[in-house]
Amino acid sequence: MPDRVRIYEVGPRDGLQNEAQPIPLETKVGFIERLVDAGLREIEATSFVSPKAIPQLADADALLPRLPRHPGVTYPVLVPNERGMARAEAAGANALAVFTAATDAFTERNIGMTVDQSLAAFEPVLRRAAELGWWRRGYVSTAFGCPYTGAVDPHRAVGVATRLLELGLDEVCFGDTIGVGVPGQVRAMVDAATGAGIELNQVAFHFHDTRGTALANVVAGLEAGVRTFDSSTGGTGGCPYAPGAAGNLATEDLVYLLDASGFEHGVSLETVLEAARFIAAALGKPLGSKVGQAGGWDAATGAAIGRATFPVASAKR
Ligand code: HMG
Ligand code: MG
Repeated sequence: MPDRVRIYEVGPRDGLQNEAQPIPLETKVGFIERLVDAGLREIEATSFVSPKAIPQLADADALLPRLPRHPGVTYPVLVPNERGMARAEAAGANALAVFTAATDAFTERNIGMTVDQSLAAFEPVLRRAAELGWWRRGYVSTAFGCPYTGAVDPHRAVGVATRLLELGLDEVCFGDTIGVGVPGQVRAMVDAATGAGIELNQVAFHFHDTRGTALANVVAGLEAGVRTFDSSTGGTGGCPYAPGAAGNLATEDLVYLLDASGFEHGVSLETVLEAARFIAAALGKPLGSKVGQAGGWDAATGAAIGRATFPVASAKR
């Protein structure tokens, strides 16, 4: 039986949250429709946070009801507190992610709470979500390094993950918020997690590609047995409270790697490239991803796949 990987798309949330120019609601809906067409089934759509903290996602209440209802597609949303939970419930959410970090310095800047305070704030949120039967994820940001305090011991990140899981989560996601991690750290994180009794099917990784290590980190995660990875179509992304945080690993780069390595995932590279081009055009930016520039590659013919224009003349030279 082919090995299956879950691709958890964060483009509409992490990808767009850091964009300075206002993005119309219609553009966000159009982007998400294309992601669904590409076969993505878990799409983190928006955040029910303070509009002062993240103005770009202030339209969350209007966006969620506009998304295509499709069997098997869920739209997890970020929720930091009970206020956010009430908004998410009213907007018709059925899956959420709470978010804390391995370090107090980052959490305080991101959500105005220490890690301990954040876990206390999540307790009623997660209790309510459990009553409603929602899928629940918890992020541990700065798991591979903090922009304010430096190196992070994997056992520290796993300690926070364990406390999150005790609050009743389906999954914990370790975030390399500022893209400083390398494969040895991924292996150490998996060892620390399994050593603490966390099941691998409860673990996801969220790599920012700030320093070009995201795909190498995915390979390390795959080799260690993890099968859920976050990515952002078009490679957009970053956190306004993490200086230097750049784009997430691009979904098209992840899909290419998984296809060529024989993993099943259900996502069409060509259609995801269309979605990537759509959002890049809307943002007025060139595509940051490698596969976005080169296209995929058809091993039967040698031709590029899904590339906007293929320079035939120069290829003949
Ligand atoms: P605060 O200012 O400490 O809290 O914000 P507050 O309770 O004093 O509220 C301040 C104001 O916000 C009040 O309004 C509240 O009503 C309002 P005012 O009286 O000033 O008019 N407010 C809200 N409004 C709407 N929805 C809410 C809400 N809560 C309070 N839910 C708070 C604390 C958590 C709200 C704020 O800091 C916040 O929203 N932070 C969000 C930051 C964020 O979204 N960061 C990016 C996501 S994390 C990330 O990107 C990392 C990740 O990708 C993984 C990785 O890469 O590692 C997940
Ligand atoms: Mg992130």
